[in-house]
Amino acid sequence: MKESMNFSRRWIVVTGASSGLGKAIATLLASEHQANLILVARRLEKLEELKHTLEKKHSIQCKTIAADLSDISNIERMFRESIQNEEVYGVVLNAGITYFGEHQQLPWDQFEQLLATNVSGIVKAVELYLPYLTEKSQGGGIMLVSSVAGLLPVPYQAAYSGSKAFITHYGLALNEELKGDNVSLTVFSPGGIATEMTHSSGLAAQFEGSAVLQSPEQCAAEAINAMESRRALYVPGWLNRLQVFGARLLPRSLLIFSAGKIYRKALAAKRNSQ
Ligand SMILES: NC(=O)c1ccc[n+]([C@@H]2O[C@H](COP(=O)([O-])OP(=O)(O)OC[C@H]3O[C@@H](n4cnc5c(N)ncnc54)[C@H](OP(=O)(O)O)[C@@H]3O)[C@@H](O)[C@H]2O)c1
Repeated sequence: MKESMNFSRRWIVVTGASSGLGKAIATLLASEHQANLILVARRLEKLEELKHTLEKKHSIQCKTIAADLSDISNIERMFRESIQNEEVYGVVLNAGITYFGEHQQLPWDQFEQLLATNVSGIVKAVELYLPYLTEKSQGGGIMLVSSVAGLLPVPYQAAYSGSKAFITHYGLALNEELKGDNVSLTVFSPGGIATEMTHSSGLAAQFEGSAVLQSPEQCAAEAINAMESRRALYVPGWLNRLQVFGARLLPRSLLIFSAGKIYRKALAAKRNSQ
């Protein structure tokens, strides 16, 4: 059995660190684990703000990389810059986007952006970091942030759900291939989280204030535990775990029908609020 990860004073890359879950993961890695961080996203000013706060509060070191991770050349640059002067021990591939609405209304260029960010960018980053971590022999690890939507099909988030199903299957298959190696790969699959994504997509209109949405901090704590203990797959929150477990016992058509009903209502609420 592989030893648990130990993040203390190690360098961890966190993508999508400018908001939501990524920001919460970075903050907890600094405050609870004294990890040094390489923060990645497009909005540099948000990353710089976080860097200054974390360095000042927790006496750790942070670097920032502004990169559009839907662009493969930016992923190659992130990899080069992150390993240039530091030894990277862990990589949290968290950056992701959604589209909430009728799939037929999703413009093609937005679909391609979703696919590039949620799928191709992740595969490219794994292709670069995995051999690096293996060669370093420090027992490092990668965590892919997927979603419950990658385990259960979600109507009105069809493309997102499909992209996360890819990440879940890809990650679990790869985890098995890595069994004998000194690195680990964890698939982390949250349900709803109260973040910019839920707000800007309009999903919050229906779910805000309900137990369905986890706070980014709660979710981040479970994410870090899952990565630290090298779990293959982890679903945070008892309600989400109950949902995933219950889904195994029920016919798939019933699950998709029920999800369709809930999200149709959420879409109507979004339209009414516009
Ligand atoms: N919110 C939920 O209910 C929920 C549920 C299950 C899973 N998840 C997953 O959790 C992850 C984090 O989502 P979140 O809820 O924290 O959303 P969020 O607050 O919108 O954060 C998304 C992060 O991804 C970054 N990002 C998006 N596109 C990018 C790009 N092209 N290049 C670089 N960075 C990019 C954003 O930074 P910039 O805009 O600064 O680039 C931001 O930091 C995602 O993978 C999401 O699918 C979320």
